[in-house]
Parts: sequence; C-alpha cells; structure tokens
Amino acid sequence: MIALGCDHGGFNLITAIKKYLDEKGIEYKDFGTYSTDSVDYPVYAYKVATAVTSGECECGILCCGTGIGISMAANKVKGIRAAVVNNEFGAEMTRRHNHANILCMGGRVTTEEDAVKYADIFLNTPEEGGRHDNRLAMLEAIENGTFSIEE
Ligand code: RB5
Repeated sequence: MIALGCDHGGFNLITAIKKYLDEKGIEYKDFGTYSTDSVDYPVYAYKVATAVTSGECECGILCCGTGIGISMAANKVKGIRAAVVNNEFGAEMTRRHNHANILCMGGRVTTEEDAVKYADIFLNTPEEGGRHDNRLAMLEAIENGTFSIEE
C-alpha cells in the first residue's frame, strides 16, 4: 500500500501518479488534498509520514509546488527518509543507497510525465545493504541524539 499526499501545488502530479498506479493495479491510500484550493503542506506531509512509520503503508509519495516544503515537513517525523527527486538517477539512488521511504516531487518544476517516470523507478528499485546500512544507522543515531564521530 502506497501513501499519497499533496498540497495544491502538487495536486496535478498526484493525479497523474494515481492514474499510473491504477493502470498498474498498485494499491494506494490517498490522504489528500483533493483539489487545487490552497492548503498547508505540513498537514499532508504529516498524514503520509505517519502512515509510513506506523506500518499502515510501506512507502509514500508527496508532492507540493517544489517538493521541498513537503519533504522538510515529512522529514521531521522520526523514521522518515523523504527525498526530493527531479531526475531519474536520483529516483533510483535515493532508493538504492538512502532507502528513502517517501518520494517527493514538485508540480511547478516537474512534468506529469517525468513524475510518473520517477515514481516508477522509485517503486521498482531495491534497497542495497552493506555500507549503506551503516550510513543509515548513522542517520538514525543523529535522529536519536546518540551520534558520535570516532576520530
Ligand atoms: C505553496 O504555494 C508552496 O509553497 C508549496 O507548494 C511548496 O512549494 C512548498 O515548498
């Protein structure tokens, strides 16, 4: 189950992504917003982020005007690794290396066609372990306030 959320600036991209998920038969839960009326992106970031950290959804896709504000809000939730993506390489690597659990994109900077392409890459790229697991453990330690640098 994929968690979806957007503000008014990302409504066009989420609409295109829902069409793509419907065509692929991939299940999703849409946390809104449901129109281009102006709303506050932290609300939708929080709904999607907590759906992911609770285990209700395995990952999420969030869109706002730039992808930036909504990613900042999502990353405030412990356990979230939300990545703003605007190219194919980033869509792949943030999954492979950063184990991103939320993909963020911007409706004012990315076309619907590209957003669907990035979502497809993101959802179909496996996570790599090894050295990346160590780095993710460091991110977690920073989040928990237990990080220390060995010199
Ligand atoms: C809303 O106008 C806009 O600020 C928002 O969609 C997003 O781009 C914030 O980062």
